[in-house]
Amino acid sequence: MLSITNLNKTYPNGTKALNNVNLEIGTGMFGLLGPNGAGKSSLMRTIATLQQADSGDIEFNDINVFTEPDELRKVLGYLPQDFGVYPKVSAEMMLNHIAKIKGIQSKTDRKAYVADLLNKVNLYKFRKRNLGDYSGGMRQRFGIAQALIGNPKLIIVDEPTAGLDPLERNRFHNLLSELGEDAVVILSTHIVDDVINLCTNMAVFNEGSVVVQGHPLELSNTLNGKVYRKSIAKDETELYQSKYNVLSTYLRSGNLYVNVFAEGVPGEGFEKVANNLEDFYFYSINQPQTV
Ligand SMILES: Nc1ncnc2c1ncn2[C@@H]1O[C@H](COP(=O)(O)OP(=O)(O)OP(=O)(O)O)[C@@H](O)[C@H]1O
Ligand SMILES: [Mg+2]
Repeated sequence: MLSITNLNKTYPNGTKALNNVNLEIGTGMFGLLGPNGAGKSSLMRTIATLQQADSGDIEFNDINVFTEPDELRKVLGYLPQDFGVYPKVSAEMMLNHIAKIKGIQSKTDRKAYVADLLNKVNLYKFRKRNLGDYSGGMRQRFGIAQALIGNPKLIIVDEPTAGLDPLERNRFHNLLSELGEDAVVILSTHIVDDVINLCTNMAVFNEGSVVVQGHPLELSNTLNGKVYRKSIAKDETELYQSKYNVLSTYLRSGNLYVNVFAEGVPGEGFEKVANNLEDFYFYSINQPQTV
């Protein structure tokens, strides 16, 4: 169990990135959903002991993250949102090196372990290629592999699927859900579908605060029967935005639609849509006080 209590962080430039964050996260996959700049990476870096909070507490099982950062690092696997690689080193060499640091002493064991990891992220074929020559998605998969070394009990992955093609995204999802069976896995993303498909629990984060926390399906049910859709002309967006509580505007096969929140049928031409998490997400970040 990861417990985050009253966590606050203001950067030296005055940005309040974490505003009294409280979260209880158990074993399984936890999705952190929020717009750009919400504070997801700040929270993840803080849990990963890479930056300090101004106040608050984080505990993982018996480990106090702030006073025992070395203990936390032993059980942590972390994939940062952006990370550099040593360009002239191959994936195999690098993973071997990290595995050694993480305590896998026997050379034969390490070789087998690294080969298994490379297979898991589908990089075995490219294991000898220098990291500097990897494509963006390959580099991301290398990052995933290095985060999994040492059988971590707390896995933090910051937008792990960014840049992955659909096949690799699927592969990664399967891998993560396996890991989620006996570890706490925290995943940040903008992709609502990732959260629905993978996570048993989630939080919506906005402007440094937890807006809402719960089970993805239960949360999307809170808007039951209150979301309506209409196909509109391209120049009508502003009109609808001024008249209705618009959750989203989006294109489907070239046609423009609005989804609006309303207690009853909002007007002519609207049809009720089965509520979905994306609508809920937009709803919760637009009006956190009413959720
Ligand atoms: N090192 C820093 N110094 C100053 N401000 C920072 C720093 N890192 C982040 N911020 C600011 O803190 C806020 C939260 O940033 P953070 O990177 O945590 O958001 P995020 O939710 O991860 O966003 P994204 O979805 O774009 O990755 C933003 O306003 C950002 O500009
Ligand atoms: Mg981020």
